[in-house]
Amino acid sequence: MIAPGERLSRWSVRQYRPADAASVRHVYAETAFFGEPVEAFFEDRELFADLGVAPYLLAFPEHIFVAQAGAQVVGYVLGSPSGEASVHRARLRLLPAVLLRAVLLRYRIGRRSLRYFAANLLAFLHGELLEVRDPRFPANLHSNVLGPYRGQGIGRALICRYLEHLQEAGVPGVHLVTTELNEAALHLYESLGFELLAQRQTNVWRPYLGRSVLLLAYGRKLR
Ligand SMILES: CC(C)(COP(=O)(O)OP(=O)(O)OC[C@H]1O[C@@H](n2cnc3c(N)ncnc32)[C@H](O)[C@@H]1OP(=O)(O)O)[C@@H](O)C(=O)NCCC(=O)NCCS
Repeated sequence: MIAPGERLSRWSVRQYRPADAASVRHVYAETAFFGEPVEAFFEDRELFADLGVAPYLLAFPEHIFVAQAGAQVVGYVLGSPSGEASVHRARLRLLPAVLLRAVLLRYRIGRRSLRYFAANLLAFLHGELLEVRDPRFPANLHSNVLGPYRGQGIGRALICRYLEHLQEAGVPGVHLVTTELNEAALHLYESLGFELLAQRQTNVWRPYLGRSVLLLAYGRKLR
């Protein structure tokens, strides 16, 4: 851990290894609420990671890169070269184990989580979620960096590495979905040549923020 305001100069980006799984899950949970910890809206970070990031760790480990500072993984970029449909399939493969753990009461599922599931279901039914299905941009991308390590070029280095990797694999384009509140991410993506594809207001976050939020889908061609 570094002190607030202290800049960390030594970090590097490298390919993900299976031993990084717990660290990637940690970064995922630590940054889930617009860069803040998941506990703002969900009780159990293991369940949150099992549903959200575990499918990528299972099915697409070769497409993950991590940033390491000292011995600690402080950020990641990950995605699927063929987009969300393949991620949903990986999630389905994990679902029986997740359901079993839920039945065995291994997760803490309280009012916050139930409200989050309900808000997502409502947003889905009202068509308020954004999923990009554009053959020009088949791959998807998720990236997060731990709070104390932001603003030092780590996010840019991770995303550039992922874009190069996809290019080498012959993927024609990549997309992502973020929100108007992820200001650093918007700046970063736009400066890397991502173009706005679609936008939509969603009420998923209304219980926590008291207002709707604009979802933004971006795409970038890779050849
Ligand atoms: C988005 C994120 C991954 C970027 O990682 P990072 O290591 O902070 O990124 P970098 O240091 O490489 O670059 C950040 C850029 O955003 C800029 N920036 C930082 N805060 C900003 C803000 N509030 N508004 C606008 N730009 C901002 C920086 O100046 C820098 O731009 P520059 O390279 O042109 O100077 C990281 O900030 C993060 O995890 N944020 C919280 C969660 C999140 O938004 N994840 C992305 C979800 S799609």
